[in-house]
Amino acid sequence: MPQNTMLTHPDEFKLGMFSANCSGGLAVTKIPERWDNSWQNNLKHAQMAEDAGFDFLLPIARWIGYGGETDFHGSVLETVTWATGLLAHTRSINVFATIHTAFNHPVVVAKQLATMDHIGNGRVGLNLVAGWNRPEYEALGGDLPQDHETRYRMAQEWLDVLNRLWREPQPFEFSGEFWQLQRTYSNPKPLADRLPIINAAGSAQGREFATRNADFLFTTVITLEAAQKEIGELKQQARALGRDIGVMTLSSVFCRPSRAEAQEYYRYVVDNADHGAIDNIVRIMFANAESFPKAALEGLRERFAAGHGGWPLIGTPDDVADGLEQLAAAGLDGSVFGFVDYNKELPYFEQEVLPRLQRKGMRIPREQKRQRA
Ligand SMILES: Cc1cc2nc3c(=O)[nH]c(=O)nc-3n(C[C@H](O)[C@H](O)[C@H](O)COP(=O)(O)O)c2cc1C
Repeated sequence: MPQNTMLTHPDEFKLGMFSANCSGGLAVTKIPERWDNSWQNNLKHAQMAEDAGFDFLLPIARWIGYGGETDFHGSVLETVTWATGLLAHTRSINVFATIHTAFNHPVVVAKQLATMDHIGNGRVGLNLVAGWNRPEYEALGGDLPQDHETRYRMAQEWLDVLNRLWREPQPFEFSGEFWQLQRTYSNPKPLADRLPIINAAGSAQGREFATRNADFLFTTVITLEAAQKEIGELKQQARALGRDIGVMTLSSVFCRPSRAEAQEYYRYVVDNADHGAIDNIVRIMFANAESFPKAALEGLRERFAAGHGGWPLIGTPDDVADGLEQLAAAGLDGSVFGFVDYNKELPYFEQEVLPRLQRKGMRIPREQKRQRA
């Protein structure tokens, strides 16, 4: 039975690519060369990330865009079908699907992910979203529960059904608050003995859910000091439940041979921010989500322009590698990345930053990894 490699090598700083399935990627900018999320670009991106030794690809599930001049995230490749296509065209990288529990029936998802795991030979993962983006719920004719308690009670029931479908050989009855299922079962089971689960909750209720259920919790870094304290508390919260949880974040990379060049490109991207789209993101998040502390949101507008609020890594390869080392020192177990143009910028990152991370002991060279497997 294959083991998903997201759940092995816990000593390695995990590297993922984020949001390449969405128009604009992570940068809320109007520059004409902003990310084009065509399938051909995504396929190339996945194969390049795999060849570079990245651990995983994480898509965003988005059903309507954020408006503004560019309608940021107005075009999005749907994540289950996107991940299935990529799993069929890659050999070793893990690929996540992002699922909104309110929009996707757990019996359908159990079979989709199991099928994908067979296609990818044990490489699929699940990013669970309990819901926050109210206009999106309205576009789907759904009702976003106002309170976080109901959102995460629903997510828990959804996941309980999924886990039973994957584990239990016999049909069973399920009588819950949100789903009533008779003689339900799902075959085939996933290939891997366990699928990695990501959850990116920011609220107390969401973090209670994540520490109970997820393998990796994503958090946003506002300052390294605050992150260190928060990560320690999250890991402690999981340990109190007898669980080990990895904590990761999102970063945006502007890496060039000199600091001046990196800064110049960064300024070009943020000076051309799509302010209309950023206004909408900040407004919707403020009203409905706790992914970023509310007090910090307004101050993060430039960071949204550069990379959807991610931790900025700007400078030479040494600066970027040192920045990642600081994240690891704060207790983070990995990061997902946005690049303005993923495919153009990845080769330089691979060539210059990844060897530095190996020298710092944050990444295991691939040959060594193969020997340990
Ligand atoms: C790395 C990362 C990935 C996320 N992916 C999605 C996504 O694909 N779709 C979505 O609607 N929300 C996504 N979110 C939002 C979270 O799932 C979560 O709902 C949000 O942070 C609100 O947290 P709260 O429910 O505790 O308020 C993501 C957040 C992060 C940090």
